[in-house]
Amino acid sequence: MKEFSNPKELANYRKKMSGTIGFVPTMGALHNGHISLIKQSVKENDKTIVSIFVNPTQFLESEDLGAYPRRLQADLKICQLSGVDIVFLPNIDDMYEKNELSIKAPRVKGFILEGFDRPGHFDGVLQIVLKLLSITLPTCAYFGKKDAQQLFMIQNMVKHLFLDVEIVPCEIVREDDGLALSSRNIYLSREDRVKALSLSSTLKLSSKLVISGELNSKEIKEQMRDILKDTKIEYVEIVDREFNQIEEIEIKNTIILVAASVGKTRLIDNIWI
Ligand code: PAF
Repeated sequence: MKEFSNPKELANYRKKMSGTIGFVPTMGALHNGHISLIKQSVKENDKTIVSIFVNPTQFLESEDLGAYPRRLQADLKICQLSGVDIVFLPNIDDMYEKNELSIKAPRVKGFILEGFDRPGHFDGVLQIVLKLLSITLPTCAYFGKKDAQQLFMIQNMVKHLFLDVEIVPCEIVREDDGLALSSRNIYLSREDRVKALSLSSTLKLSSKLVISGELNSKEIKEQMRDILKDTKIEYVEIVDREFNQIEEIEIKNTIILVAASVGKTRLIDNIWI
C-alpha cells in the first residue's frame, strides 16, 4: 500500500495508473461502515484510493474540529487489511490556500435539514470532495446512504459540473441492534447508547406504518417523534429523493430522515422507502 501526502505527487502518480480506480473519501476514525465502502470499491475496481482528511471547511466555527476522533495508525492498518492500494493523507496547508475560489451548495437544498443548523457545512463538503475527485480522478467514488443529503449534494455537483465520475451510493451499515455506524458512536455512554437506538427504532416504525398502508407524512412523523422522546430531536423529515418535502410517501422515491442529540452526541439516520 502506497501513502501520499502531497496532492500534486498523487495527481501525477494517478495519471500514470491504468484500469478502473475506486475512491473512498473519509475523515478517518474508520469503522465497519467505511470498511464496507472500501471493500465494495476493492471488489469493483482495479485499484482503490482512500483519503483520510479531517476537512476544516465543513466544520462550523462553533464545532470542535480538534475533538474529531483521530486514529491514524489503526486507520492505516484497516486500509492495508482491506486491500487498499493508495492512502492519501494530505495536510491542510497543501489542500487549501488563503482566499481561494469557493464552491457554494445550492441555496435551498444546501440549507435545509443538515444544512439548517450547520449553514455552510455543505459548501465545505463540496469544496473538499471536488478537490479530492480532481486529484484522484476516480472511475467510481463511494459514499454512504447514511449521509443522504451529502450524497444528494455530491451527485448534484457531479451532474452540474459535468464531472466524469460515477457516484456509488452504499447501504447503511448497522450494529446487530440497529444502531447505524458512525464515528460519533464512541462518544455515547452506555446509557446514551440505549437511548440512541430510538433513532433506528423510529425508522423501523415508519417503514411498518408504510407497509400497513399509512402514507400520510404528517401522521408518520407524529408517531415517529413519540419514540424519540428521550432524545433532543433536531428534525424528523420525509422527502422525495430530490429532497423536496412530500405530504404523501412515494414508494421507491422517499427518504425518511431523523437527526437527534443523545447527551452531547448528535446522531443522524434514515431509511429509503
Ligand atoms: O462523509 C465524510 O466523511 C466527509 O463529509 C467527506 C465526504 C469525507 C468529506 O470530507
